[in-house]
Amino acid sequence: MKERAPWADARVYAEERGIPIIADESARCIEGLIREHGIRRILEIGTAVGYSAIRLASVSAKMRVVTLERNAKMIEKARDFIRSSPCGDRVTLIEADALCWLPAQRETFDMLFIDAAKSRYKAFFDRFTPHLRAGGVVVVDNVLFRGLDETALNRRQKPLVKKIERFNRYFLDHEGFDAEILEIGDGLGIAVKKGDKDGTFRENIG
Ligand SMILES: C[S@@+](CC[C@H](N)C(=O)[O-])C[C@H]1O[C@@H](n2cnc3c(N)ncnc32)[C@H](O)[C@@H]1O
Repeated sequence: MKERAPWADARVYAEERGIPIIADESARCIEGLIREHGIRRILEIGTAVGYSAIRLASVSAKMRVVTLERNAKMIEKARDFIRSSPCGDRVTLIEADALCWLPAQRETFDMLFIDAAKSRYKAFFDRFTPHLRAGGVVVVDNVLFRGLDETALNRRQKPLVKKIERFNRYFLDHEGFDAEILEIGDGLGIAVKKGDKDGTFRENIG
């Protein structure tokens, strides 16, 4: 019998309640990036109930995930799922608004995974990419609003779509990164930070 994945309960819980989580094909793509780029330390913005954090931490026993969530109900559930998963000791859940929290000054990550409020993608990108090592990877979920009928957008969605489009331009044109947007899941932005790939600390922090 096939073993149950460590993230299965979090996924079922989220799906039954309509809590948005990363699409399976996008998660598989990130797992591939982790292997390809030798990623060990991930900073995730937007935990929800911990599905993606557990899934990415499960790629190997060397993975460490720091994940940020501001919603108290999500935090409570995420804490349960993370604690009871086999990789729970490698996932650190930080209860904070990502716009009010920063890693320690010289702390760096190999991957930044942005999956929180879409209207603040640029703010998350600018705030946390200085803590990404050169050669590290930024992944941004939900950048294409796939399946959304642009002619039927409501008053709240229209400005958000414009904001995401502006972010995508900024992301793709950023001179410090080699970026692309993949048409998988709800649109996945992937960017590799330019510079020395030896993981040494870069002077652009703080
Ligand atoms: C799409 S869900 C995350 C899904 C999760 N990454 C997964 O795939 O399992 C987005 C989450 O980001 C959280 N969030 C939104 N803005 C945030 C912020 N500024 N700081 C921390 N969390 C935030 C929301 O409360 C929500 O739970």
